[in-house]
Amino acid sequence: MNLQAPRGTKDILPGESCIWQEIEANARCVLSIYNYSEIRTPVFESLTLFKRSLGEETDIVQKQMFVFSQGDDQLVLRPEATASIARAYLEHNLGHGVKLRKLFYVGPMFRAERPQKGRLRQFHHIGVEAIGSTEPYLDVEILEVAQHLLKEWGISGHTFLINSLGCEKDKAALAGMLHERLSPHKKNLCLTCQERFSRNIFRVLDCKKEECKKIRGSIKFSHDYLCGSCRVSFDKILKGIEALKIPYRLEFQLVRGLDYYSGMVFEITHPNLGSQDAVGAGGRYDLLFKQLANKELGAIGFAFGIERIILAKQVSTCAQTLPAYCISIGEAGMNQSRLIARQLRDKAIRCDVDFSDSSLKSKLNEANRLGVEYVIIIGDTEIAQQRAVVRSMKDSKQEEVIFVQVSDYLAQRLKG
Ligand code: HAM
Repeated sequence: MNLQAPRGTKDILPGESCIWQEIEANARCVLSIYNYSEIRTPVFESLTLFKRSLGEETDIVQKQMFVFSQGDDQLVLRPEATASIARAYLEHNLGHGVKLRKLFYVGPMFRAERPQKGRLRQFHHIGVEAIGSTEPYLDVEILEVAQHLLKEWGISGHTFLINSLGCEKDKAALAGMLHERLSPHKKNLCLTCQERFSRNIFRVLDCKKEECKKIRGSIKFSHDYLCGSCRVSFDKILKGIEALKIPYRLEFQLVRGLDYYSGMVFEITHPNLGSQDAVGAGGRYDLLFKQLANKELGAIGFAFGIERIILAKQVSTCAQTLPAYCISIGEAGMNQSRLIARQLRDKAIRCDVDFSDSSLKSKLNEANRLGVEYVIIIGDTEIAQQRAVVRSMKDSKQEEVIFVQVSDYLAQRLKG
């Protein structure tokens, strides 16, 4: 029997889960101060939702979805959450009585990609979606939130790559510009891109093949396709982020791999990540609600990949420590140990009890392995005197403490 986790998935082990908890706790704290509320949606959704939201020609829909059927339902493990959140927003009428709905989510996403460093088949997003406004100042705040999160996670050295796809008309003009500039090179593009050329030209810009990258590199791109109002709006966004001193670079070829985007789009790259260098990404998706429910609704969001945040931080494990550990010899010692542990836990002092039948020496070795700060030792002598030996594992200094005072004694020591 194969006892390995499936390809492209990873167990998050005890020495690592504390980093995940810290990243998530920091995010919850930052997002709450910007007034975001958590939303939890199912990890599977209908296949149609993603086909309609992300676009039939996208890599995700074409080859990366885990699709399964149950009865008559065609379902898919969610490859991202923006479409799910839009679905939930519409289903539960979350815009009722609130102009701008700010939502965040944390959870696993699934894409059947070829696994490599920073690219998994099950990975995790921390993402935000702000639904109900087309104001460019919201775009600025979204970038500010992303920057704030990175700061809170202790990440620096990243770059924001930013572009604007403009409104629906501008996107059509951009498609026209791409057709015009790429058509002399069409026959040299890879076969997939030649097909995409007529079906969805934006996807040519996502292609990772060298020949296609080279052709794109030789073409001059500009923002000529932006209409007056999209240009003004994009300028406001850039001025806003300059005022916030967020480092950014204009990236004319950044269109993002999903069809729902329009307006400002961005990716945040980090040099620690290797070839999969985006730690997070997002943008406006004002067209999505039109696509799904024929509604005019401004929306913008982003998602960070938690595995990539960890790569950027370069810290994947945390030291395991335990403030207190109760060691006993004999049955009476064990019963007293359990009472002391209860006292400590009532005071919210994290502790554990040694249940082994081994020697004192081996119990102390175990305490060392666990990173224990104080051991509480109770044998027959201690039972007779109603006092425990409390030993600091750091300097081996020990004191005798009356049983009922052990928790107060340790609470004092651990505070310092
Ligand atoms: P995305 O660019 O597909 O955007 O994913 C966001 C982030 O998820 C990436 O920048 C990367 O850090 C991480 N990521 C993506 N694929 C993988 C993978 N296979 N393994 C590990 N990490 C990965 C979205 O999903 C959009 N829904 C973001 C968004 C929210 N746009 C608007 N709102």
